[in-house]
Amino acid sequence: MISKNKILDKVYTARTHAELMDAYKDWAGDYEEDTVGGFGYVAPKIAADVLHGHLDDPTALILDAGCGTGLVGEALSAQGYSNMDALDYSPDMLARAERKGLYHTHLNADLSRPLDIADDSYDAVVSAGTFTYGHVDASALGELARITKPGGFITITIRDGAFDDHDYPEKMRELETKRTWKQIEIRDEDYLQKEGVGCKVCTFQII
Ligand SMILES: C[S@@+](CC[C@H](N)C(=O)[O-])C[C@H]1O[C@@H](n2cnc3c(N)ncnc32)[C@H](O)[C@@H]1O
Repeated sequence: MISKNKILDKVYTARTHAELMDAYKDWAGDYEEDTVGGFGYVAPKIAADVLHGHLDDPTALILDAGCGTGLVGEALSAQGYSNMDALDYSPDMLARAERKGLYHTHLNADLSRPLDIADDSYDAVVSAGTFTYGHVDASALGELARITKPGGFITITIRDGAFDDHDYPEKMRELETKRTWKQIEIRDEDYLQKEGVGCKVCTFQII
């Protein structure tokens, strides 16, 4: 049995996607207790609330990108949404999400690679906790834009620090310049409340 700190070390120091997925395999069972209970992880609820503030359509088809164990789906479900798909690269995290019975489809895919999803598939895409160190690169933003319908919304959290250490801001500006999307807002919010870590909650509307 691997200790908690070793699991967290594995997540934060993973150098390859294989190592990261191995870390999530060890963590899946304790993930919610450690993050929500231990760190005061509020990003899923905040992301769901922010998206709801813009979308406000309980019939909308939403993709939860990097769904993990399904915390965003739970928060959206509490807001009245029921038309949701889930995507995650970790089969173990995805299996936890599937058990909640919140999502229609459960896609095992890598957000850093081209997705096997048709253009303009979703009314909205939401992602919490997945745009962070060592997880998903900026190319994922272009893919999320591609699969979202014109007029649809994308809301993602980006952990403070990771926002500037990756080329997320450059890719966001590129998509704005190309008129792929319009930036609606970038909001500073809590992320790991008990750890004093914040995030940017970024919302875009597809043109
Ligand atoms: C910190 S968890 C967040 C999960 C969930 N959204 C939440 O807020 O609880 C990050 C998730 O991103 C997934 N992930 C990491 N890299 C990924 C990638 N390249 N493509 C898809 N999912 C990825 C992990 O498997 C993990 O479930």
